[in-house]
Amino acid sequence: MRYPREIIEEVRLQNDIVEVISQYVPLKQKGGSYFGLCPFHNEKTPSFSVNSEKQFYYCFGCGAAGNVFGFLMEMENCDFPEALKKLADRAHVSLPEPEKSAQAMVAEQLKARLFEIHTVAGRFYHDILQSDEGAAARSYMKERKLKPNITRKFGLGFAPERRNVLLEHLKEKGYSINDMLQSGLVIENKDKNGYHDRFRGRLMFPIFDPQGRVVGFGGRIMGKGEPKYLNSPETILFSKSRNLYGLNFAKAARKKELILVEGYMDMISLYQAGFHNVVAALGTAFNQEHARTLKKFAEDIILLYDSDEAGTNAALRAIPVLTSNGFRVRVTQVPDGKDPDDFIKENGALAFSKLLINAVHYISFEIACIRRNYNLDNPEHKVRFATEAADILSKLDNAIERNVYASEVSRMTGVEEGAIRSEIDKRVKKVDDAFQKEAEKRRQMNQKASSVGGHREKGLMEAQRSILYFSASEQKVYEKLVSVLDKEDFTEDLYYRVFQTIGQLWGEVGNVFPAELVSYFENTAEQKPVTEVFAIQLPAQSKEDLQKAMNEAVKLLKRTKIDKLTATATTVEELQGLVEAKRMLDSLYITI
Ligand code: GTP
Ligand code: MN
Repeated sequence: MRYPREIIEEVRLQNDIVEVISQYVPLKQKGGSYFGLCPFHNEKTPSFSVNSEKQFYYCFGCGAAGNVFGFLMEMENCDFPEALKKLADRAHVSLPEPEKSAQAMVAEQLKARLFEIHTVAGRFYHDILQSDEGAAARSYMKERKLKPNITRKFGLGFAPERRNVLLEHLKEKGYSINDMLQSGLVIENKDKNGYHDRFRGRLMFPIFDPQGRVVGFGGRIMGKGEPKYLNSPETILFSKSRNLYGLNFAKAARKKELILVEGYMDMISLYQAGFHNVVAALGTAFNQEHARTLKKFAEDIILLYDSDEAGTNAALRAIPVLTSNGFRVRVTQVPDGKDPDDFIKENGALAFSKLLINAVHYISFEIACIRRNYNLDNPEHKVRFATEAADILSKLDNAIERNVYASEVSRMTGVEEGAIRSEIDKRVKKVDDAFQKEAEKRRQMNQKASSVGGHREKGLMEAQRSILYFSASEQKVYEKLVSVLDKEDFTEDLYYRVFQTIGQLWGEVGNVFPAELVSYFENTAEQKPVTEVFAIQLPAQSKEDLQKAMNEAVKLLKRTKIDKLTATATTVEELQGLVEAKRMLDSLYITI
């Protein structure tokens, strides 16, 4: 998908990077730059800077860098066109219809058809549920206390046992077998002599994306049998490690706090009881992608996993994923190994509210979990428990929290609070020391690497970056450089493309603004190195210094190229040519 350059640049100009980033990260002004805590890595002291003049952000800690588009792409986990759209909306710039490549058109049309197929299939299954053929499914749902309004709202349905009802229905509607296969709702027979429906004899749960479009299905078997739940496979619309069940409804609740449960039925059941801010992971462990998806909608999470061993372990694994993404996490569990669905149906919404109110800080939960492994009447166990708890507490960043929970452990064990605290402090110090040591080791290793083999490599990269920096600073300089450099002089294809783009900007726009240049590179993996060229301030140079630096950079690149070609040359003519090239190089001197 391509938008005209002028539009991209207009959108960029209308969205001041400081204002946009401030909506996500609190920033403090320091001189010409703004600083804050980096949203892309975990840190305690601000090393994330936003340069208002250059319209760049740059993190001195993790190296994240880019312009306003890059920031949004990273932050919202979206691609360039989506970032452009968001920023255009923000600044009330209207986007023209994008110019699309033929291939992009085909892909987009396929996606549109797959959305349609899912809508058609959802309606089909829902209608069958209401028909004679759905009688057993309806009574199953009644047994599970699902009310008709909820059945409608969640678009529940029934896929009959018959082998290819959906296939026939989709065929009638004019969809090709290939589209059906791509949707994952139809699969090829084992012996490859035809096709059949994926879902048969199952209660159907449409899975929605956050915008409320059906992107897949979960199907529950009604009696006993394996698997209990069958999901859509990974398709271009659906991924179980990204989509969360119920997010489209939870999002509408507009609460900063979300309840995270394990199952479809838990989600629906809570919703039915009036708790609308609920989502479920789709039968897979809660992962980083889920966390990033949720980040747009919530700050606080209440983990409500089944209270059996599997559920407890899953909750323990979800905690670090959530906390490392900046969520405040509390945990609550249903008593007696039941799941939330059973609990709310047996005990009602009021009792359930109490469970939520009694949710505890995740650290308390972790401590309670290890507590079960010990008998605190036994002195030896007491010591081991307190020690293990100190271990957990030492991982808390916040010293106040550490102290609060140290006294909790003290109360549980009767061990004096001071003793527990000093164990925690010891561990915190140990981690700090280890970190310092590791940092020092890395620093030394880097020095070593750059003084031997790495030296030349690093010098080459540096030389290319300088060339780009100089080329973007003055058109005259670019013209000099382009007259002596060619594609083969660059070791990095990306840098060569930047060089070309700089030329294009001088020719077409008459100036090169680095933040604009960066927009030409539409994925964040490329934006970062491009930004780095310009984000790091070079010391102001006299004309002579600049000239000298430029010549050194050009010569280093050319010499490296000649050496490389010499090593692989196979004919005398080739070698003679290279000797000549080297001789020319000695007499080359660019002036500006
Ligand atoms: P009900 O038994 O209908 O109440 O379901 P539940 O939500 O209580 O299911 P359970 O606690 O057994 O599992 C939790 C979640 O894991 C389910 O909602 C599914 O998303 C997923 N799950 C369970 N069984 C299977 C399975 O056999 N295959 C797959 N892919 N996912 C499953
Ligand atoms: Mn259940």
